[in-house]
Amino acid sequence: MTLHRLHAMHSAGENIAVLTCYDAAFAQLLDQAGVDVLLVGDSLGMVVGGERSTLKVSVDHMAYHTGCVARGASLAWIVADMPFGSYQQSPAQALQNAVTLMQAGAHMVKLEGGDWTIPAVEFLTERGIPVCGHLGFTPQSVHALGGYRIQGRTEEAVEQLLRQARDLAKAGAQMLVLELVPAEVAAQVTQALSIPVIGIGAGRSCSGQVLVLHDMLGINSGVAPRFVKNFLAANNSIAGAIRQYVEDVKEGRFPEDQLHGY
Ligand code: KIV
Repeated sequence: MTLHRLHAMHSAGENIAVLTCYDAAFAQLLDQAGVDVLLVGDSLGMVVGGERSTLKVSVDHMAYHTGCVARGASLAWIVADMPFGSYQQSPAQALQNAVTLMQAGAHMVKLEGGDWTIPAVEFLTERGIPVCGHLGFTPQSVHALGGYRIQGRTEEAVEQLLRQARDLAKAGAQMLVLELVPAEVAAQVTQALSIPVIGIGAGRSCSGQVLVLHDMLGINSGVAPRFVKNFLAANNSIAGAIRQYVEDVKEGRFPEDQLHGY
């Protein structure tokens, strides 16, 4: 998978299937099942580390898991999350930590947030590091946002979201994750951009979908968000569940429209 191919898929209206991944064994399985993009999400702090948020994840944790995924995958595009505190200080700090993740095997790094991330996005992309933005609900700001809440619910919030999405793309972001926004808002953002928009809890009109791997396999220690579907329940193997997810995303069968929100 290449960035060029992901953009071509977006332009052709071919849905992009994304899952989080944290280790080599699953990377190989997901790769063989046709998952286009593996996101080494900082959700690993919660699903692997048992934390209540992503805030304690470090660059070292991310580099270790990115390396594991990169060794297991041979086809998929690999995106690594920049963890909380690794890009907030300055573009130079973001560059230093992004280099660590790229050297660990990432093809692209993901940063959460709007306006204030623009200088870092520009700085990284100008230096040859592909960047994915992340708007809507941003888990690293869970406390500031007052919990797991749907974003983009007022006219003003939608305007701001659209502007920030356009600004991120203008600053050089080559992909955008949009989390927990109403389906019609996600559709507007996707139409407004020429880069792929990957939705999670954002309806079916995005260029692709992402889920946390453990959630879609029903391995969830807490309460699963409402937008999650357990693909293992109707399949008798993990490989079968992953293939079903890829097929359902590609065919536009997942998500079902009413299944957004927590
Ligand atoms: O860390 C993660 O798993 C993510 C997804 C929720 C998009 O950022």
